[in-house]
Amino acid sequence: MARRKKVYEGKAKILYEGPEPGTFVQYFKDDATAFNAQKKDIIDGKGVLNNRLSEFFMTGLAQIGVPTHFLKRLNMREQLIRQVEIIPLEVIVRNYAAGTMSERLGLEEGTQLPRPIVEFCLKDDNLGDPLVSEEHIIAFGWAAQQDLDDMIALALRVNDFLSGCMMAVGIRLVDFKIEIGRVWEGDFQRLIVADEISPDSCRLWDIETGEKLDKDVFRRDLGDLADAYTEVARRLGVLPSNVTHATKPTLIN
Ligand code: TYD
Repeated sequence: MARRKKVYEGKAKILYEGPEPGTFVQYFKDDATAFNAQKKDIIDGKGVLNNRLSEFFMTGLAQIGVPTHFLKRLNMREQLIRQVEIIPLEVIVRNYAAGTMSERLGLEEGTQLPRPIVEFCLKDDNLGDPLVSEEHIIAFGWAAQQDLDDMIALALRVNDFLSGCMMAVGIRLVDFKIEIGRVWEGDFQRLIVADEISPDSCRLWDIETGEKLDKDVFRRDLGDLADAYTEVARRLGVLPSNVTHATKPTLIN
């Protein structure tokens, strides 16, 4: 088979040209990064878990009428996706205070917010993805007012869906980030959920114990990240039957 053309390589994923125009193959790596890639490691099996989890969430969203870029999973680490024009904003939805919101506003982590709050950060690693206001977004032309309204509506629908999925398996969805892309259908554009939805970009706490089951395990050195993601996948019933996170051979007595 001819070697595929790499279109883009990010911190956790690689995009290759897809088999048909308008498609990409999205490959999930095992690389974990935090604090703008100042902290890095390879977590065996993370890519396999995130490929499955993102498939699970994107498929569920499509079933409730939320459009996404996901077309189909191809193998353990790859999925076929629609090519989109990524809007250069990280869209964050928060249900409880944590992370930078806690720092900025002096709120104790875990404080329930009066309602879900949507925030936007500019996707720019050199600047450390700064928080931006709707005024900035419109003035600098990163998105139009109509896009903003659509993005907020989309993000809140994703929040309701993800919160419900997680609540059903005893997990609190504290916050998450999504990326949104534009697709063109004739002269009309539509916004759809793109990138990935996985514990890399969510805060997930066990409802009973408060145990963290997301990338904070890596950011804050709280234990084994793959174990945490495996637990999320296991509870949701999406663990691939033939894979554990261990990829090294182990001796069997
Ligand atoms: P936030 O608390 O703002 O930042 P940090 O993760 O650095 O403490 O993040 C809110 C949520 O959004 C959290 O679940 C992580 C996620 N997120 C990303 O996945 N990538 C990003 O670039 C940003 C800004 C947030």
